[in-house]
Amino acid sequence: MLKRIALLTSGGDSPGMNACIRAVVRSAASKGIEVFGIMRGYEGLIDGEFKQYGLRSVSNIIALGGTILKTSRSERFLTKEGRKKAIDNLDKNKINGLVVIGGNGSFTGAHILQQEWGGNIVGVPGTIDNDLAGTDYTLGADTAVNTALGAMDKIRDTVHSMERIFVVEVMGRLEGFIAIRAALAGGAEDVLVPETDYTIDEICNEIKAGRKKGKVSWIVVVSEGVATGFEIAKLINENTGFETRHVTLGHIQRGGSPTAFDRILGARMGAAAVEALINDEKDKMVGIEADVIVLVDFIKACQHSVKKIALDRELYRLIKLLAT
Ligand code: F6P
Repeated sequence: MLKRIALLTSGGDSPGMNACIRAVVRSAASKGIEVFGIMRGYEGLIDGEFKQYGLRSVSNIIALGGTILKTSRSERFLTKEGRKKAIDNLDKNKINGLVVIGGNGSFTGAHILQQEWGGNIVGVPGTIDNDLAGTDYTLGADTAVNTALGAMDKIRDTVHSMERIFVVEVMGRLEGFIAIRAALAGGAEDVLVPETDYTIDEICNEIKAGRKKGKVSWIVVVSEGVATGFEIAKLINENTGFETRHVTLGHIQRGGSPTAFDRILGARMGAAAVEALINDEKDKMVGIEADVIVLVDFIKACQHSVKKIALDRELYRLIKLLAT
């Protein structure tokens, strides 16, 4: 019988995490389940930073970016000793279900903890990178794309006015979700992402050919997993001789109020995580596929998604087709 659950956010914060926290707390309360918030992710779990969260603890947070629980990337949780302390704290607080909102690294940790602890763990994907398998979307990815797009729209003004080449570096180490969507929505001419093997030589040749045909301005979006914007801009300038600028959007993409999409996703996934714990599910992440909530093993969620890579390649071809 599920009586008391705990909840933490881990890894990079992402917009929509607070909407999810609210959904976990309030849907659990509706079933008579007590909720304890754990501060600073796995760090707070190890240090015993537990605080009871009631209905009013999550008032007015739905529109906030970041996470009211704070978050961290915990080195100590990678050690058996760190996890032993975490388990002692969960048991001391009589917790028998844990919700982890985070990304790849957080779920790898959650999977290991699940083998060592008697309670049940369920995850909610929270990362702007959208680099988990078994879910079409992760919390914060839609907001991050819109934030990157807003910046690109502004950059386009100077690109067009001054007839420049501009390189925009966006986040995404393993997959180019943000880069590809921002490029397609923002009408970029080129995009460099880990999913394709497009080369800088090809880009430079296209820019030179484009100039001959009268195409004077050019935006290249680059995913941080491929190279820095600075490096790409330097190479383009050296190879083409055209004035090239770059901008790194960085952590701006992680902040800000979540879009309606991310708030709704947070609400649905948070409620589904509580439901999964009530149904004695464990070692699984809540996902969404074709707008239907699903449960996916942590191990599977942490692998590369063949489906997502195929979609990114399709969108990539569309970017190239429309940029002519
Ligand atoms: O949370 C995902 C992410 O924003 C990645 O896109 C990025 O590479 C990384 O986190 C940055 O991490 P940190 O904030 O720890 O520098």
